[in-house]
Order: sequence, then C-alpha cells, then structure tokens
Amino acid sequence: MKSKNKMWSGRFESAMAKSMIDLSFSLDIDKELLEEDIQGSLAHGKGLVEAGVISKKEYAKIAAGLQSILAAANKGKNLWNKGDEDIHMAVERVLTEKIGSLGKKIHTGRSRNDQVATDFKLYMRHKAIDVLGRILELQKIVYELAKKHKGRLMPGYTHLQQAQPIQFSHYWMSLFFALERDKKRLSNFLALHNECPLGSGAMAGSAFSYNRKTVAKELGFGGISANSIDAVSHRDMALEFLSDLSIIGSALSRYAEDMVIWSTSEFGFLTLHDKFSSGSSMMPQKKNPDSMELIRGKAGRLIGNFTAMFTLVKGAPLTYSRDLQEDKLPVFDSVKTILACLQVFGEALESAAWNFENMEKKMLPALLATDLADLLVESGTPFRDAHHIVGNLVGIAAKRGVNFTELPELPQLRKKLTFAYSVSRRDIEGGTGKKSLDAQLKKAEKLLLM
Ligand code: ARG
Repeated sequence: MKSKNKMWSGRFESAMAKSMIDLSFSLDIDKELLEEDIQGSLAHGKGLVEAGVISKKEYAKIAAGLQSILAAANKGKNLWNKGDEDIHMAVERVLTEKIGSLGKKIHTGRSRNDQVATDFKLYMRHKAIDVLGRILELQKIVYELAKKHKGRLMPGYTHLQQAQPIQFSHYWMSLFFALERDKKRLSNFLALHNECPLGSGAMAGSAFSYNRKTVAKELGFGGISANSIDAVSHRDMALEFLSDLSIIGSALSRYAEDMVIWSTSEFGFLTLHDKFSSGSSMMPQKKNPDSMELIRGKAGRLIGNFTAMFTLVKGAPLTYSRDLQEDKLPVFDSVKTILACLQVFGEALESAAWNFENMEKKMLPALLATDLADLLVESGTPFRDAHHIVGNLVGIAAKRGVNFTELPELPQLRKKLTFAYSVSRRDIEGGTGKKSLDAQLKKAEKLLLM
C-alpha cells in the first residue's frame, strides 16, 4: 500500500509499520514546542516575503492561520490526530486544512532540522527566563528569613559534627549567594546561545537566500549562526541548560537534606508546616518531611536528564540524526522539575516554624574550642601549640565527664567564652559576625534591586 498522507511520502512504496510509528512519533512530547513553532514560522514567513518567495497577501493568510491554530490550542482544543508525526508536521497539516495548499508554502527554504533547532533554542531561552524569575523569588524569601531572625544563634556543622557557633541568618545567606551564581550561570547561558539557526535548512543552508538577520531579530535572537552544519548538529545548548538546572537542583538538595535532619526529634530545630509534610499510612504519630525528601530525590532526576542528553549526543554522527529527537523530553522534564522544586522549597521555608530555643540548647560548649585556642594565641602561644593544649583540655574534660569550659584550669577565660563572643569575633567580611551579616544583607538588597 502506497502511503500518500505523509508529508515526506513521495519516494516511499509502503506506509510505516505500526511498531515504527510507535517508536518514532513524538507529537505527545514535542507539542510543548507549539508556541515557539508558531513564532518560528511567523518569522520565517516574513523572511520569505522579503525574499520575494511568497507575497504579502499570502503571508497575511498564513500568519492568520498560524495565529488561529495557537489560539485554538491555547483554548484547549485538540487539533492534532494520530497521523501527525510531530508538532511541526501537525501545525503544517492543520494550516493547510485551514487555508488550502498555500499552507504548504511556509516550509519553503526550511527543513525540520533548522526548524526544530530554532524552536528548541527559543523554548530554552524562554524557560531560562522563567527559572531566573523563580530563583529571584526564592532569594527574596531567603533574604526575608535571614533579616527577620538576625542575631539568632545555632551550631554550625562540618562532617555533620558541631563545629562553630553561627548565626542562623548566616546559614541562610549562604543559599542566597549560591542562587546568585545560578542566576549568573543562566544569564551567561542566555548570552552565549543567542544565534538563530533558521536558514540553515537540512544541513547545507537554504537555497532561497533571505535575510536571516531580520528573521533572527524578529525572534529575539541577537544574531545568526555562522555555520549551517553547526546549527543543526549540536546540542551543547541543551547540555549546558541541563547542567545549570542540575546544579541548582543539587544545591537545593543539600539544603533539603539539612531540613530533613533539622526536623528530626533528635535535632528539633524545625517544624515544617503540615502543607509541606505528609503522614504515614500505618504509624499515626508520623509527620514526614516529604517536601524536602522529594526535592532531594528530584535532584537525581535532574542529573539523570543531564546524563541522558550527554549519552544521546556523544555518538550521533553529524549532522542531524534522528537520535536527536530524544533531546526534548529531558529538557522539558528538567524545566518542570526545577520550577516545582524552587517553588516548593520557597513556600516550605516561608511557612516553617523555627525552634531557636532548641538550637541554642543543643549547642555544645566544645563549639568554643577554637575560640579558646584563639585566646591563647592572643596571649602569645603559637596556634599549633594552642590547638594541642585545647585538644588536651577537651580530652581531660571528656574523661572527667564535664564540659571543657567548666575546667578549673581556665577560670579567667571562662567568662569570655560564650557563643555570642565567638560569633562577635567573626566580623571579617563573609564571616558570621553581626557586622558581616549586615553587610551581606546590604549586598543582597542591592542584588535584589538589580
Ligand atoms: N521530530 C523530529 C525531531 O524533533 C523532527 C526532525 C526530523 N528531521 C528529519 N530529518 N527526520 O528531531
């Protein structure tokens, strides 16, 4: 049976096998690109008018048809059918049904290879801006939290062992500045991947010479790709995007892990709001920090998508190979995942109850060991020796079953050695002291205004 209904079926004797259709049709996934596909076609059509390939009148009809497709789809109308291979073919089919064979002219001088590359780049650019917005929202929440609880102390950890006293706000400002780098990474990404592939055709460049720069500008790109092979082959933009999103996700995952630990009865620093917890189907007493566990789990998924993309591209011969169709799902999935994680983390943080009394209660006097060594240094002892002396004292105290600050060996230093004193000594820029924290908050205010 000769297949007539496929747009590329001219040279084929038989239709595609059902199993092959199932393997290859991507509409269910790439319909996510509808808006960008329409934008791309509108801009491409304008280029065709300028080049004299289609008339202004023809363009007006095509453009109206494309707009109506987008409007109908946005209203929830299902325009697609089982025979549509992907969103690009589907749009062209619906357009042709609407305005007649004129609809087929929109694909002049274009291949799905440069069309897909363009749609996909546009999509990632749009979504990077959404992610940037969500990061900013989280930064504001973190900033407010830090500002509100200035002066509250808690144990700071290394190796998950109590290390030094810190301000609770100092801990949270660490996330603020990490997020600031995530924003920079995405801004760099937007600056780098700013070239429009349209005009590259299947791989050698379109034979209809049209003004690529105008088309690129129309789509909001800063310029045009310099080489058609490069433009349709590479997916480094997707790799970079997935990497950036994985980095955000894995940072959130570490904070989420801390929140899981903080919310245990052993720590008791934090109670997540019921809205961000869940119960056990068997144990009635349980309130589990599922929001944080999920954020931790989603980081695995983000890294998985990043890995999938690398695995996909590393062996695909230039230029376009159909493998590359598999590039969409990891990106769509990671975008949705990171947006959800950023949102939930922010809301969970805003609604959480912080148990500052418990934080203070749990602070061990040994947190002050470094400060005692520092005091000895101030009275002339070299730091290495001071470290040794204090280590000995801590050991003796442990043997006697008392806190080292209670040892009779250091009566005159005892009064000085408080958690507040320890924090106050760390006003160096970036430290946990009051002045430093105020400076961090100021810096944050400036960044939030930009
Ligand atoms: N659905 C395909 C994709 O997203 C479209 C490109 C098909 N190109 C081709 N030469 N078969 O990659």
